[in-house]
Amino acid sequence: MKVLVTGGAGFIGGVTGRALQAAGHEIAVFDDFSTGHDWACQGMRVYRGDIRDRSALDKAFGEFLPDAAMHFAAKAVVPESVSNPGLYYDVNVVGSLRLLEAMRVAGCRKIVFSSSAAVYGTPAITPIDEESRQHPINPYGRTKKQFEEALEDARPADGLSYACLRYFNACGAAPEWGLGEVREHETHLVPLVIRAAATGKPFTIWGTDYETRDGTCVRDYVDVRDLADAHVLALERLRPGEGGAYNLGSGQGTTVREVVSSVGRVMGKKVPFVDGPRRAGDPASLVASCSKARRYLGWTPGRSLDDSIRAVAEFLRSRGG
Ligand SMILES: NC(=O)c1ccc[n+]([C@@H]2O[C@H](COP(=O)([O-])OP(=O)(O)OC[C@H]3O[C@@H](n4cnc5c(N)ncnc54)[C@H](O)[C@@H]3O)[C@@H](O)[C@H]2O)c1
Repeated sequence: MKVLVTGGAGFIGGVTGRALQAAGHEIAVFDDFSTGHDWACQGMRVYRGDIRDRSALDKAFGEFLPDAAMHFAAKAVVPESVSNPGLYYDVNVVGSLRLLEAMRVAGCRKIVFSSSAAVYGTPAITPIDEESRQHPINPYGRTKKQFEEALEDARPADGLSYACLRYFNACGAAPEWGLGEVREHETHLVPLVIRAAATGKPFTIWGTDYETRDGTCVRDYVDVRDLADAHVLALERLRPGEGGAYNLGSGQGTTVREVVSSVGRVMGKKVPFVDGPRRAGDPASLVASCSKARRYLGWTPGRSLDDSIRAVAEFLRSRGG
């Protein structure tokens, strides 16, 4: 298939683009490089543009004539979505609707969308399955939920088929393709802990009195290469007129202290850390039930957290970090 990958210069979109190529698909990247990198899509056909710009989208669809879109492009930093919600609604909702409109005009009827566990908010029960109540607690989560709803409305109206993939905490790297997470302002736990191990500068554990096995927050870390595999499967299994949402996690909860000891073990270094207070809005535990993705997509996440940390360390070494 020919696949237009929005956000293909970013972390998850970059790795998925390579996985699509490895599976025999032809891809083109559409990205404004606001958080993406040229090196992440080297040798690929690239359309440089903003998803809010219909004419840029029309040019890409008109020239490349994709059979499907994979839509990663988004603003994706939760605290920023609280301080600047307008930007999040503009890019994640308005921009995504422009993409949908460009697809409709171009006759492109398949889309795989990067959604998020943030659509659930603070769940009453974990593991969280796809039927759990959706009550996002920040603008970022609300924008993801709104575009999921737009896709479901467009399905019968436009003859669209879609898969919304709700990732939990993406981590890892794909050093075999020279790809990994590089951000100006890192907010994700695994790279922050790895950085603390590498630099010796202490990392703060926010909250140590949660009702979890060691008092720190439990999250579900899923390797970016496993996420990429799920995208390929979701695309290839999409049937006309079908729509669905799938949780993508490892299905296992890991505490912050367990991440710290994994990093220490894999890197053979002591991770300096200090205990800090709770942060507002951090749920104690977020763990995915992934049985729907296993059943319908035939997807089994195979990489452990140690595998992901090893991959990040190798990627950082290859960049001289
Ligand atoms: N990283 C995670 O743990 C996680 C978890 C859940 C969901 N997601 C979702 O996965 C997707 C990819 O996340 P990521 O971690 O790879 O982020 P990223 O920032 O590395 O990638 C996003 C890409 O989109 C591009 N982009 C942003 N705004 C754009 C615009 N207006 N027009 C065109 N391109 C634009 C950026 O330049 C970048 O290349 C996002 O939709 C995010 O919400 C990520």
